[in-house]
Amino acid sequence: MSANIAEMEKRRAAARLGGGQKRIDAQHAKGKLTARERLKVLLDEGSFEEVDMYVEHNCTDFGMPETTVPGDGVVTGSGTINGRLVYVYAQDFTVFGGAVSERHAMKICKIMDAAMKVGAPVIGLNDSGGARIQEGVASLGGYTEIFQRNVLASGVVPQLSLIMGPCAGGAVYSPAMTDFIFMVKDSSYMFVTGPDVVKTVTNEIVTQEELGGAVTHSTKTSVADLALENDIEALLTARDLIDYLPLNNRTGVPERPTSDAWDRIEDSLDTLIPANANQPYDMHEVVRKVLDEGEFFEIQPKHAANIIVGFGRVEGRTVGVVANQPMVLAGVLDINASKKAARFVRFCDAFEIPILTFVDVPGFLPGTAQEYGGIIKHGAKLLFAYAEATVPKITVITRKAYGGAYCVMSSKHLRGDLNYSWPTGEIAVMGAKGAVEIIFRQDIGDPDKIAERTKEYEDAFANPFVAASKGFIDEVIHPRNTRRRIALGLRKLRNKSLENPWKKHDNIPL
Ligand code: HXC
Repeated sequence: MSANIAEMEKRRAAARLGGGQKRIDAQHAKGKLTARERLKVLLDEGSFEEVDMYVEHNCTDFGMPETTVPGDGVVTGSGTINGRLVYVYAQDFTVFGGAVSERHAMKICKIMDAAMKVGAPVIGLNDSGGARIQEGVASLGGYTEIFQRNVLASGVVPQLSLIMGPCAGGAVYSPAMTDFIFMVKDSSYMFVTGPDVVKTVTNEIVTQEELGGAVTHSTKTSVADLALENDIEALLTARDLIDYLPLNNRTGVPERPTSDAWDRIEDSLDTLIPANANQPYDMHEVVRKVLDEGEFFEIQPKHAANIIVGFGRVEGRTVGVVANQPMVLAGVLDINASKKAARFVRFCDAFEIPILTFVDVPGFLPGTAQEYGGIIKHGAKLLFAYAEATVPKITVITRKAYGGAYCVMSSKHLRGDLNYSWPTGEIAVMGAKGAVEIIFRQDIGDPDKIAERTKEYEDAFANPFVAASKGFIDEVIHPRNTRRRIALGLRKLRNKSLENPWKKHDNIPL
């Protein structure tokens, strides 16, 4: 018996050593943790339960039978984050560069299947040279099995990808189909083809980091939601995000105790909006003052900053926040902002997370770049996402709500449950100046007349009361009471029941 246990221990120790001490040292020298070290940081202490530690590859070509390593380059299992169950896989770069074999893929699929069965998030720690070259199509088959599961899990359990090393070629498409991607600065990259191929095909000279590093993807492309400084920061941030998320699409949002009073009055909000309608203010201030303890987990803060999206809590329960940011491009909706917010709204709706929308939007961004880029289709994404969402939707207009952008930003007409406006709300087809230049075109040469007409238009429309008189705004509220109103609204809406007509799936403008 003791000999058997000793044998088991010996095998475990061998598996834990992965590709050996030399390769572990090389991993550390690059500033990266090993797969097992990463899981230690990610999960609650002592909670990790590994499976498939002894799985080996089945490749018989290129001398591979002599080079089996138990675990086959990926550590898989389950554990907890602040006591809540998650399934995890961590690719082990010390074993064949974390390359994906048929068996390696099978291990990942097994934990995805288990997560789906019990309804728990899947967190993937990616650090891989891609398809295991010695295995050829067997590896591609394995990858595709993972892709298929990513799609079936989408909207059922949250999926989070941390890119902590190479992720190139078709391999990028598994993370791309998960809900959130975090990347580590300077040690991770994602691209479909690397700098060498790019140079051959297009003559462009570009570094790995420029082409697909964490900064590129969290600013330019929006492929990544956050760029973190190092492995530890990425893993701890993943823990924070998981704390906000439901375990699956049926459990509802997590709840945790808070000492922040639900009816906290924020007098400073009464004076936040500047007298001059063209002067910006920081919408983050509104968001933070409404949420519990001022805590806000922002998604894609560095991409399309003209719209803010992220998670917070009210009375300890998770909410999704979407807010126009007047500090950036006056809070205008453009292609990137529309895509960013649409995806976020759909995530919230899929996982029953109520949506709070703060509106200060002058309209859609004009220009050939936007029109040729397809702002019509991309703007429609956000409209579509809000319109199909059946979760509780509370909207607060703080200042401008102009034109099509008024309609899009969770308006009453898109089944907004509670639509509030501050007294500073301006709900109109467009700003007064633009409106007057169109409807009083004959007076354009007469500045006095134009000023008079502009004042007339402002008096008529630069307020929330016309919309309120039609029932499009449920109530004009004191800014200082915004948190109280939202908390009460969310309580009322907790049992909201609304279903869309049966369909196989919709046809959102992609
Ligand atoms: C098998 C691999 C491997 C791979 C790396 N290794 N990639 N083994 N299949 N794809 C092994 C190396 O042989 C080496 O083994 C160890 O991993 C570490 O690799 P190094 O090259 O020493 O490390 P480094 O210098 O850090 O470079 C990492 C790398 C490079 C950039 C990932 O290894 C590389 O370019 N690998 C090939 C990448 C690739 O072309 N993959 C296929 C892409 S196509 P030893 O024994 O020396 O430690 C693809 C399609 C997926 O992935 C499609 C899905 C549908």
